[in-house]
Amino acid sequence: MSKELNFNKKDLIKNVTLLIENEIPLIANLANITRLIYETIQNVSWCGFYLANEEGNRLYLGPFQGPIACTTIPFGKGVCGTAAIQQKSQLVPNVHEFPGHIACSSLTNSELVVPVIKNNQTVGVLDLDSNELNNFNMEDQLLLEELCNLLANLF
Ligand code: SME
Repeated sequence: MSKELNFNKKDLIKNVTLLIENEIPLIANLANITRLIYETIQNVSWCGFYLANEEGNRLYLGPFQGPIACTTIPFGKGVCGTAAIQQKSQLVPNVHEFPGHIACSSLTNSELVVPVIKNNQTVGVLDLDSNELNNFNMEDQLLLEELCNLLANLF
């Protein structure tokens, strides 16, 4: 790891800007960013991007850290599809209480999904899962919204 980078939450945005390379494909940037997020936020069991198709009605699995996951999620389904269609972050303290939650892992208990929006279109979502209940808070949501705003420029 380059020595300017660290895994402190307060430096996440700065670290992302250091990590992004503007001349390489999106996927390569997102791959490193998933690892940065995975190391930075506590108790993350899975963290990754789902990318929207051209039609803007389906999400496909993108770069991630963690166990094998669902490869496709329609807009409107599950926590990810809800964030995608509503263009609103979903902070879910207990996934078992979220109607239609898609259980990629039976160990997941809480989740945070933030949409990536470009020109008013959902181009993807950032999904974080935890085996702990109530693992994510509003501070995490705001931080990852700032991050996704920054990333929208890369799409
Ligand atoms: N739980 C998500 C599906 C994606 S996995 O958690 C990686 C959902 O309900 O959309």
